[in-house]
Amino acid sequence: DAADMEKGTYAHYMLKEIDEQPAVMRRLVQEYTNASGELEVDEEITSKLNNSDRVYIVACGTSWHAGWVGKKLIENLTATPVEVHVASEFAYDMPIISEKPFFIFISQSGETADSRQVLVKVNELGYDSMTLTNVAGSTLSREAQTTMLLHAGPEIAVASTKAYTAQIGALAILAKVAGVVNGNENAVAFDLVHELGLVANAMEVLVNQKEIIADLAQEKLSTTRNAFYIGRGLDYFVSMEAALKLKEISYIQAEGFAAGELKHGTIALIEEGTPVIGLITEEVMGSHTRGNLKEVESRGADTLVISMEGLEKEGDNIILPKINTLLTPLVSVIPVQLLAYYASLQRGLDVDKPRNLAKSVTVE
Ligand code: G6P
Repeated sequence: DAADMEKGTYAHYMLKEIDEQPAVMRRLVQEYTNASGELEVDEEITSKLNNSDRVYIVACGTSWHAGWVGKKLIENLTATPVEVHVASEFAYDMPIISEKPFFIFISQSGETADSRQVLVKVNELGYDSMTLTNVAGSTLSREAQTTMLLHAGPEIAVASTKAYTAQIGALAILAKVAGVVNGNENAVAFDLVHELGLVANAMEVLVNQKEIIADLAQEKLSTTRNAFYIGRGLDYFVSMEAALKLKEISYIQAEGFAAGELKHGTIALIEEGTPVIGLITEEVMGSHTRGNLKEVESRGADTLVISMEGLEKEGDNIILPKINTLLTPLVSVIPVQLLAYYASLQRGLDVDKPRNLAKSVTVE
């Protein structure tokens, strides 16, 4: 069928979609650049954000993970506090809402029932809202007051890849533009167009390291029952997404958590050969994460570090080209997507259609 043709020479949609990410990043910048070469976002959206005293991000799954990175971007570039919520929890256990909230629903499909349920309540309460989605005209897009599109092209593989990076890219653009409107110093100084160009180039370098990453997957993940991702700050958020990718398609019991929490319980699970993958993109936090990796190594763990150039450690490393500190999730996620892909492939599993999962979940 038509969808099969789109796959072209790729064995799986997931690999195709991973490879598309540099192009998606460049297209996103183009789509949000106006005739005078400036980044631009619908004024209704930036003014709603700037008039609010607190942003509430509501999402599920991978979109929720992108939301955590969005929190950092919005807080850094607009100085507006941001809360990030899982939709299914928010619906039943609503937190105290500030006086002038702005709700951002993140949903690749725009059809997720858990998120929609919250949007229905938000509309009843008369709060301002926006949906960030890949699908124009989707339910969440129609029902929110405003929409930002991801322009990522159809995402077919159940495991979300290019939508995650497009969501983060779009949230960066939103934060930058809203911040500039408000005269925020960080936002004014942030040359996002240039930085996203560097991100696209770095993504390209990484998608061209498939053989190295496939070998590492073979070595570390082909037979293991469990695996751990650890990181701090933004690296922690990517660790959660990394673990989800691995769970979804390789069925490895994976956990992503804050590196410092390791010693408060999880370290009891480390045995001879347990894979522990550390993400290190920031110097300051990196030295602590390196320490945590040493602790698990001495208890037999098989470690791998995904590190920003210059922050490598002895042993196995996947090195990320240097890019802006705020944007590291856009590149550190590429190797973890590929590790999950190859782990699934090497285990002979159905990469694009994992068991028990649906691309879009329209029941609560
Ligand atoms: C499903 C998919 C996930 C996705 C989540 C949220 O569970 O399997 O990959 O992250 O829904 O989907 P959405 O379309 O709202 O981003």
